[in-house]
Amino acid sequence: MRTQVAIIGAGPSGLLLGQLLAKAGIDNVILERQTGDYVLGRIRAGILEQVTVDLMREAGVGERLDREGIVHHSIELVFSGARHPIDVHGLTGGKVVTAYGQTELTRDLMEARAAAGLPTVYEAADVALHDFDGDKPRLTYRKDGQTHTLECDFIAGCDGFHGVSRATVKDRVTEYEKVYPFGWLGVLSETPPVSPHAIVYGNSERGFSLCSMRSMTRSRYYVQVPVSDQVEDWSDQRFWDELKRRVDPELAGRIVTGPSIEKSIAPLRSFVAEPMRFGRLFLAGDAGHIVPPTGAKGLNLAATDVKYLSAALIEFLKDKSPHGIDTYSERCLKRIWKAERFSWWLTTLMHRFPDTEGFGQKVQEAELDYLVNSKALSTSLAENYVGLPL
Ligand code: FAD
Ligand code: DHB
Repeated sequence: MRTQVAIIGAGPSGLLLGQLLAKAGIDNVILERQTGDYVLGRIRAGILEQVTVDLMREAGVGERLDREGIVHHSIELVFSGARHPIDVHGLTGGKVVTAYGQTELTRDLMEARAAAGLPTVYEAADVALHDFDGDKPRLTYRKDGQTHTLECDFIAGCDGFHGVSRATVKDRVTEYEKVYPFGWLGVLSETPPVSPHAIVYGNSERGFSLCSMRSMTRSRYYVQVPVSDQVEDWSDQRFWDELKRRVDPELAGRIVTGPSIEKSIAPLRSFVAEPMRFGRLFLAGDAGHIVPPTGAKGLNLAATDVKYLSAALIEFLKDKSPHGIDTYSERCLKRIWKAERFSWWLTTLMHRFPDTEGFGQKVQEAELDYLVNSKALSTSLAENYVGLPL
């Protein structure tokens, strides 16, 4: 088999890239290790920056997002038992974010891909990358007991943090990493969100909490837990009780509880691999970088990588101009490091660190108080939250 761009991974990065390339008349094949249902079963992001919404529209898959996505104008911070609104819309000159689940975005992309007859090989095992330093790269993979070869002009490594692309160039990357001493226990439930028009971020003496949503009938909540905790340690009842103890009493009284339909623990990590281009191989999305979820930047960064990568590949394959591919890594990393900084900062501000002593705790409390009373710092939070300009 031969294609112009071979894409590894059918997560948001790979699917969005495939769609944008196909729209420009560039053929591509996606190889995905899992089944489509497995990919759709992973509950992750929920908050989209405008750049991501615009890219979905540009890819021709924005219709349901425009209909069902819920626009948020503000966020709320809870600490010391009180809630403080941050007017994101007002502080950024009218910018907003949109609540729309990663699952839904992925489904829209998968359906569009299937409808356009674009090839995706699910359950492709042992994907291996070859000859990407030359101009005839290829992938090999196993499917139905047979080994297949996919020849191509370019390889896009959109295969997430645990994928094969970055692992293949391990000796050529510089890795920057920070691992946090806690995780997020997340619960999805078929209950109306307690705060449908603003995500609520909480810092209490019992730890971080987050009240988010997927729709007017489906909520998503998180609490900070020790990394050693297992999902089995947390009954639904224990989760709801803990969540309510971490927010202000008025909000706690309004939380509608119900059975969890998904419950999982995600470790928190900051990670960047540099560079993101190796000859004719490009890393995009979580394959190249991870942020802790605080501030909702991961999927949005993946979308920006894809915006730059699709433009670069189209420029090269249509106009023979190498400028986009030559500057891809540098352009992406500039934006990535700003999102890394923001996610690290918000994580540090909103979580309880097990080894923080009195002084560190007092400084955190002072910063929270400063934040909600300072237009300058609130504006900084707001402009990072909606996404810095491209
Ligand atoms: P992935 O979604 O990881 O997709 C990679 C794909 O590659 C997968 O389907 C995988 O099966 C496949 N793959 C892996 N290895 C191979 C292989 N060897 N061969 C073939 N295929 C392979 N981000 C936000 O912007 N906003 C949020 O609100 C937000 N909330 C989050 C909450 C949680 C709890 C978590 C864990 C993450 C959150 N994120 C959020 C981050 C966001 O989910 C990720 O950044 C996003 O999934 C990255 O997309 P991706 O396509 O790059 O990688
Ligand atoms: C989610 C929302 C957020 O605002 C965030 O920072 C992280 C995750 C969510 O809905 O999953």
